[in-house]
Amino acid sequence: MHPLAQLLGRQIAVDIRALPAAARRRSSGRSQLTRCVSVADIRDLARRRVPRAVFDFVDGAAWDELTARRNRLDFGELSLLPQMLAGVADVDLSTTLLGQPVSIPLIGSPTGMAGLMHPAGEPAIAGALHRRGGIYAVSAGASYPVEEVIREAPGSTWLQLYLARDRGVVEAMIARAQACGCTALVVTIDVPRAGPRERDLRNGFTVPPRVTLPTALDAARHPRWLTEVIRNPAVLPTGPAGGAAALADFVNSQFNPAARWEDIEWFRQRWTGPLAVKGILHPKDAETAVQIGADAIMVSNHGGRQLDTAVSAIRALPAVVQAVAGDAEVYLDGGVRRGTDILKAIALGARAVMVGRPMVYGIGAGGRLGAERVVELLVEELRLAMALAGRTSLADVDDSLIGLSTGASTGSWSR
Ligand SMILES: Cc1cc2nc3c(=O)[nH]c(=O)nc-3n(C[C@H](O)[C@H](O)[C@H](O)COP(=O)(O)O)c2cc1C
Repeated sequence: MHPLAQLLGRQIAVDIRALPAAARRRSSGRSQLTRCVSVADIRDLARRRVPRAVFDFVDGAAWDELTARRNRLDFGELSLLPQMLAGVADVDLSTTLLGQPVSIPLIGSPTGMAGLMHPAGEPAIAGALHRRGGIYAVSAGASYPVEEVIREAPGSTWLQLYLARDRGVVEAMIARAQACGCTALVVTIDVPRAGPRERDLRNGFTVPPRVTLPTALDAARHPRWLTEVIRNPAVLPTGPAGGAAALADFVNSQFNPAARWEDIEWFRQRWTGPLAVKGILHPKDAETAVQIGADAIMVSNHGGRQLDTAVSAIRALPAVVQAVAGDAEVYLDGGVRRGTDILKAIALGARAVMVGRPMVYGIGAGGRLGAERVVELLVEELRLAMALAGRTSLADVDDSLIGLSTGASTGSWSR
């Protein structure tokens, strides 16, 4: 045989022998995650890996989901006006949040029941942010107790609470937050009633999950997810005594629709550490929260999961920053999927941004490694965007970076 043909034959044999390992590597969690080069890719991977009802619970929003979409689209409306030759070899993303030094301006938003996506749950999200020097605000409705979450992220865990009907329950949670070392308390004020999430209604999503023929088939089509959940049943949410209730009924049974600003004063009196108020869009509400003693305002429409057609978070931001006038820190929450989104929010006065769904997509796509990949992607995108925009530190990022707008200018954004 011709020597070249022999060589080729040998090479093909080697390749064939290596095939199973290569195929294994290709389908291994780590390599699937490495091939995800954006948060959108991570979302697609999560969608393939978890049952539809679970994905929709995370991905869905209120009514026509317009606010959720606008949270994203309004970032795109803003153009950046970069500067060149600014010596951008080193980019520093560090800052302080509520007096705490952080390496990145990133806070994981509270997301209840994240363990449904993957049993690694909130500890994996907290750990991924902690290792890169960020913060996680764990939800009181998390799949894991706050004490377990904080073990993964000592010194960088905040606790989020709702205005619940039962103040005894809230007081007990505040005491636990204090005892385990949460460094700030977040009170979410935009859920006087459950948001109308039609995907959950259509999917028959209940708390605790109810086994019906469609939900059983949905789960059976995702055997890897099913096996993981069967091995860790504790991550499944429990509902009120007496069986399954639609998610909205469950929320309405727990939260207090009669809550007023005096309830924030109640929190202020009981929690001596830094207090953040989450769910503010109107500048007047921001002023009131600051008067009561809030140390941070989280500009948020709950990821579009409450009042549909409410203003997007990035559009609401400039007026809130102006109203607060430096008396509290302001964070942007909603729609952040790219490093440029973070850059724009900081340019418009946010001290940091919060990310909700991306971290939950991360664990859905690959547990702990998935959460780490999301943080890595966002941080590296921000670092690159800063360099391309001619900025080397967050202190250099101001509204001079927001340039000619494709649609709305920030001027027309403030009322
Ligand atoms: C699955 C899920 C659960 C959530 N649970 C909570 C919660 O328990 N407490 C809260 O304040 N906000 C909750 N939120 C809202 C987030 O904190 C955040 O405001 C929102 O996700 C931000 O938008 P983004 O997902 O576009 O980043 C939840 C959001 C999602 C997607």
